[in-house]
Amino acid sequence: MNTINNRQWKVARSPAQGWPTDGDFILSTDIAPEPARNQLCTRTIYLSLDPYQWVRLRAGAEKKGDICHGRTVSQVTKSLVDGYQEGDLIFNTNGWQDYGLVGDGISVFDYMLPRKIDPALAPISTALGVLGMLGLTAYSGVYLQCQPQAGETVVVSAASGGVGQNAGQIAKIKGCRVIGITGSTEKCNFVTETLGFDAALNHRDEDFADQLRTACPDGIDIYFENVGGKVFEAVKPLLNRKARISLCGLISQYGNDDLGAMLESVHIQWKKSGESIFAKQEVSVHSLAVGNFVKDYQDQFLSEMGAWVKDGLIKYKEDLWQGLENAPEAFSTMLSGGNFGKTLVQISEDPTANELLQLRRDGNNVLE
Ligand SMILES: NC(=O)c1ccc[n+]([C@@H]2O[C@H](COP(=O)([O-])OP(=O)(O)OC[C@H]3O[C@@H](n4cnc5c(N)ncnc54)[C@H](OP(=O)(O)O)[C@@H]3O)[C@@H](O)[C@H]2O)c1
Repeated sequence: MNTINNRQWKVARSPAQGWPTDGDFILSTDIAPEPARNQLCTRTIYLSLDPYQWVRLRAGAEKKGDICHGRTVSQVTKSLVDGYQEGDLIFNTNGWQDYGLVGDGISVFDYMLPRKIDPALAPISTALGVLGMLGLTAYSGVYLQCQPQAGETVVVSAASGGVGQNAGQIAKIKGCRVIGITGSTEKCNFVTETLGFDAALNHRDEDFADQLRTACPDGIDIYFENVGGKVFEAVKPLLNRKARISLCGLISQYGNDDLGAMLESVHIQWKKSGESIFAKQEVSVHSLAVGNFVKDYQDQFLSEMGAWVKDGLIKYKEDLWQGLENAPEAFSTMLSGGNFGKTLVQISEDPTANELLQLRRDGNNVLE
């Protein structure tokens, strides 16, 4: 009989209110589950922490006592599924726990389906970032929705974060002039010096709106919206005729009292606040839901983005925390802008650590 402990962070109140506090999560310990026929038991290696998880908690999509939702990279510890064996590395959705089951009868929220990961192609954590949902989000928004043309001016908010860093680099590959908006000088330096953006501005500066106007002398052709609020206010008057916006996220609003049922009301308010300018300038606003792009574009994305990553055209930075016990703190930190790069928590040993070191030694573009 299995006697391995399985620590689990569970939802302590639903729906959650405001911004996360300690009272929103509770840590408990169970016994690691045994797989039934057509199921795998997997050990969580990396857990992805993403803003949408807070939106789900705010919306009551997860109930009190549920294991907190989260995408993971895991290793199979026991397989009763043909084609999978112990040791295989997979992308799955274990949530905030040490061990989880995948397969028949196991239901989790996710439109990204479990898949095997080949550690020879890229570090396995990339399945949660640049080669996972975040990379696909940036690819879908900037590339597929906004169709950037060489020479256009592209502005990306939350530019050093998981989605933003990819969005800006894709626009650079397409020959655009890219301005990143971040929340610190260090992050601004990172996006210009390391990621190759043309300019970066700190949204916390008092004269931020004036700086943006100066940085965009020809106006803005594409805006990749991650945050809303005062950043969007500064962008609006600079939008060119026939500009395109990918409405990816509005993180500055995720603690609002009136978040309401999912994000709908926040999105409606955002659109309302811009509608006169959108009409005057014939701006196309594309609401982005990455789940709508998985079926038709995941293979194309993995092939194209995988090649850009392999060739060093796309670099990526991870903000790696250690230990499941620190997941709530890492989550709050990310939501308040304390992260620097894609937020991940390492839950257990990465068996590919040696290959990862080798990739770094070979000059791969994984940034420490
Ligand atoms: N549409 C979709 O399908 C989809 C999919 C994935 C993600 N998203 C959205 O994409 C956005 C970015 O997600 P991510 O996972 O890449 O997170 P992230 O950018 O790695 O982390 C969040 C960042 O948001 C910025 N931020 C937080 N509060 C802010 C505020 N009040 N004003 C301005 N910036 C603020 C902070 O950066 P600074 O320190 O630089 O301010 C923080 O580092 C989120 O809005 C998320 O909901 C949407």
